[in-house]
Amino acid sequence: MLERLTSLGQGQLSAEVQEWVVGALMRDPYHASHVIDVDYHRRLCKALFAAAERSDDGVTDALADEFQKRQCAVQQSRSGWCQKVWTYGVTGPALGHLGTTASDGASGCIALGLSHDMLAGSTGCHEWEAGFWLAEYVLSNLAAFAGKHCVELGCGAGVVGVALARVGAASVLCTDGSPEAVANCDANLRLNGVGAGDNVRTALLRWEDDPAGGPTPDCILGADLLYDPRAVAPLLHAVTWLLQNTASHGGKGERRAPAAALIATVERNPDTLALFEREAERHAFLQARRVAVPRVQAVSWHEFEALEAARPRLLLHELALRAPGGQS
Ligand SMILES: C[S@@+](CC[C@H](N)C(=O)[O-])C[C@H]1O[C@@H](n2cnc3c(N)ncnc32)[C@H](O)[C@@H]1O
Repeated sequence: MLERLTSLGQGQLSAEVQEWVVGALMRDPYHASHVIDVDYHRRLCKALFAAAERSDDGVTDALADEFQKRQCAVQQSRSGWCQKVWTYGVTGPALGHLGTTASDGASGCIALGLSHDMLAGSTGCHEWEAGFWLAEYVLSNLAAFAGKHCVELGCGAGVVGVALARVGAASVLCTDGSPEAVANCDANLRLNGVGAGDNVRTALLRWEDDPAGGPTPDCILGADLLYDPRAVAPLLHAVTWLLQNTASHGGKGERRAPAAALIATVERNPDTLALFEREAERHAFLQARRVAVPRVQAVSWHEFEALEAARPRLLLHELALRAPGGQS
């Protein structure tokens, strides 16, 4: 293979050929999601890297990036971590009326570094269906999130943060109370080419504490946060704090729509869910409502069986500040 590729560049792995290899073989969504042997890919990438180093053009940034990712993939898989890639695309031509077409860039792939071991790296270092569903919701409703300042609570591995960056959110702060989850989310943002340049950052934030630096989001997002009854009160505290901070300090004179929080849940602990709804309903400052969950979204993940199985149990809650003196 290397021989064929170098023959295209008169015996050298030219920059042009490197760009082609990276685009067609390494970043192509199909190839990226069907990695059969991580070690083989690493060895192939290493051989390409060595050939590129010998060429007059040297190693392109894209090939260097892919080489580094593959090195990390192997190291991670050896220590109980893995990288998985999911692809998404426009659900079908029948959804053209929703205003989303493949040409909007509504297809792509997201790679996440995840821990195999539930006890290592916190619950946030795993894939959770509600998080993938919320990412799908963001990708399917780009106009609702483009240009918005967003904070995610309990961001876990970062799939929602990547989706928000892709639809052009003005800023994204991915927060979690677990340092392992924050570090992993940070690495996953970089793995997907998202970083400070996109105004996407991570921060450690426990819901029990008031957020340092005082973000003033238009939109607060969270997925799969309603599983532990002890977390309900702190979660409502964090949401209230952020909404009130936006109401008091957000926008600096710009006219902004009132902020809201969207919490996606796969119903698996009915008692905790009931507690959340009860506490939100009698909350002094918040009003909550269930939002109808579209069973089919304009953009959806390919071949994600666990999410398909969870779809009938998906719930979306919207929380906003009560109007002064208003009833819920
Ligand atoms: C089930 S995981 C969901 C992660 C991610 N939202 C997703 O859907 O993939 C719950 C996340 O909430 C975070 N979390 C739980 N309790 C928290 C608290 N009191 N403060 C901040 N984060 C918390 C956990 O660290 C974890 O990352």
